[in-house]
Amino acid sequence: MNTVPAFRAEDARPLNFPIPPNVHAETVVSVRHYTDRLFSFRVTRPQSLRFRSGEFVMIGLPNAEKPVFRAYSVASPAWDDELEFFSIKVPDGPLTSELQKIQPGDTVLIRPKATGTLVLDALTPAKRLFMISTGTGVAPFASLLRDPETYEKFEQVILTHTCRDRAELVYGQELVANLENDPLIGELTRGRVRLYNSTTREPSERMGRITALISSGKFYEDLGIERLNPETDRVMICGSMHMLRDVKELVEGLGFVEGSLSSPASFVVERAFVG
Ligand code: A2P
Repeated sequence: MNTVPAFRAEDARPLNFPIPPNVHAETVVSVRHYTDRLFSFRVTRPQSLRFRSGEFVMIGLPNAEKPVFRAYSVASPAWDDELEFFSIKVPDGPLTSELQKIQPGDTVLIRPKATGTLVLDALTPAKRLFMISTGTGVAPFASLLRDPETYEKFEQVILTHTCRDRAELVYGQELVANLENDPLIGELTRGRVRLYNSTTREPSERMGRITALISSGKFYEDLGIERLNPETDRVMICGSMHMLRDVKELVEGLGFVEGSLSSPASFVVERAFVG
């Protein structure tokens, strides 16, 4: 253990455990609870932390000698002074059972290295970018949607977000609604981003899993767009393990090929945080 003082900033609360070496101790700036299952929070950003939009970092709490760390996609863009995250609350989850109680002024631990597969550089150039998400899987897209590079590489962006109920869709809806008013990227995004929502467990304007909506063709009819085509389109997928498996199978069936930084291609996948 190193000798980082128990107070990081004047507004930080005292810590009961020393901060592990080579870990950033950051201060919670704001917290917002959307439902009893979902919340978002913002923390100060370590000056030295560099990340590509779509990547994740490891997050923990200073509540043990050896804190539990879990992967969290950064939801904020690379140019933001703060870091934003969108999290599930799992009642007996080793991290989220405690993380869901954080308040402004509290300390969150962040490992210094960002990584991940959901990055623009893993995709070859094309016309349309489809971001397919469920639940907290929308988080990396919140970062990518606020990155100017997304609009340099693609003419059109279609974000799909499917959740159990309507209240869980609010984070993504506000994100997209605020894009055009953003002083930095508003102009770039104007008229180029579409949001496609559905719910699976509460009645709403559109119900059903995204896999079913795409397979039936309703997705294309609702948006009035051409079908997914590996010649013109790229796909990024983020959600639960089962969702990834099924959407991956679907796009592979349409001729899409999984890409990586060393071998860019037409789609990429990342598992959303689970516990
Ligand atoms: P469902 O309610 O039918 O399970 P969760 O909050 O459990 O991660 O789920 C988020 C959303 O992802 C839910 O709407 C859920 O639908 C949907 N989902 C779960 N599994 C799959 C899958 N294999 N393919 C597509 N969507 C899925």
